Amino acid sequence: MRTQVAIIGAGPAGLLLSHLLHLQGISSVVLETRSRADIEATIRAGVLEQGTMDVLTAAGVGERMRKEGALHHGFELAFGGKRHRIDLHGLTGKSITVYPQHEVLKDLVAARLAAQGTILFEVSDVALHDVSTNKSFVTFRHAGEAQRIDADFIAGCDGYHGVSRPAMPDQATRQDYQKIYPFGWFGILVESAPSSEELIYAQHERGFALVSTRSPTVQRLYFQCDPADKVDNWSDDRIWAELHGRLENHDGWKLKEGKIFQKGIIGMRSFVSTPMQAGRLFLAGDAAHIVPPTGAKGLNLAVSDVKVLTAGLVEFYRNGGEALLQTYSETALKRIWRAECFSWTMTRLLHTFADATPFEREMQRAELENIVSSPALATALAENYVGAF
Ligand code: FAD
Ligand code: PHB
Repeated sequence: MRTQVAIIGAGPAGLLLSHLLHLQGISSVVLETRSRADIEATIRAGVLEQGTMDVLTAAGVGERMRKEGALHHGFELAFGGKRHRIDLHGLTGKSITVYPQHEVLKDLVAARLAAQGTILFEVSDVALHDVSTNKSFVTFRHAGEAQRIDADFIAGCDGYHGVSRPAMPDQATRQDYQKIYPFGWFGILVESAPSSEELIYAQHERGFALVSTRSPTVQRLYFQCDPADKVDNWSDDRIWAELHGRLENHDGWKLKEGKIFQKGIIGMRSFVSTPMQAGRLFLAGDAAHIVPPTGAKGLNLAVSDVKVLTAGLVEFYRNGGEALLQTYSETALKRIWRAECFSWTMTRLLHTFADATPFEREMQRAELENIVSSPALATALAENYVGAF
């Protein structure tokens, strides 16, 4: 097989890249280890920035997002028994949409298949070859057969655990940055009506909690936990007691309970691998960087990487220019580091660190008080959250 761009991974980064390239007349083949049903059912992100919505809309895959997604003009910070609204729209002129990542994936897969795009699901043994030359190729197995794709470029969009980052040449000179947090998130999906019109990010001495949503009938809740804890240690009753304890407040607001139909624990890390390109191989999305989910940036960063990479590839195929491709990593990393900074700030502000001194705990609370009492600080937070940079 031959294509212009071989794309490893059918997550948001890989599928969106394939679709945007198609709209510019550039061919690609997407390789994915999991099945279509599996990727379309995996519960992950929920918050889309205005910039992400704009990209999806301009690419013709925003119709269901606009119809079924929920536009949120603000969110709440809860601490000390009180809720404080951050008026995203009032402070920045922008809003966010809550629309699940797997629905974005469904829309992208449908668009690729409608355009006769090639996505090979359930491939195995994916290996990248000769990425430093302009004769790079990918080998893999599909439907029991060994296969090979020759391509002008390879886009590594295969997430944190994929094969593309380890295939980058010059491993010894690469610079990776990492911070692992001493806590994880326990996430649940619940059958109930929303408890709140907007997301609630709660700081509490027992640990962070987040009230999010998926639809008018399904809610997404998280609470900080030990990353080594086991889902089986948490009965439904214990989960509700913990959430009520952390979300308690003095204004009569109450968390709605419902049937819990999914439970899971996720670890938290900050990670950046540089540079994001070498020869004909370009990394995008979680393959190159991870943020803790507190800032809701991961999916949005994958989309912004893909936007930058698409511009470079379009320039290359239009007139042979490589200026944008050569600066891909540098351009993408500017936004990535700012999002890393914001995600780390939100994580630090809202979580309970077991080793924090009493002084550090007071500083954390004072910082939250500063944000909700200063329009300047609240605006800075809102700008980062909506991605206004
Ligand atoms: P992925 O979605 O990881 O996709 C990579 C794909 O590559 C996968 O389908 C994988 O199966 C495939 N693959 C792996 N190895 C191979 C291989 N060898 N060959 C072929 N294919 C391979 N982000 C936000 O913006 N907002 C949020 O609210 C938010 N909340 C989150 C909540 C949770 C609980 C989690 C876990 C994440 C959250 N994120 C959020 C982050 C977001 O989900 C990720 O950043 C996003 O999925 C990154 O997309 P991606 O395409 O780069 O990678
Ligand atoms: C989610 O709904 O999954 C979600 C929302 C906001 C976050 C993280 C996750 O910051």
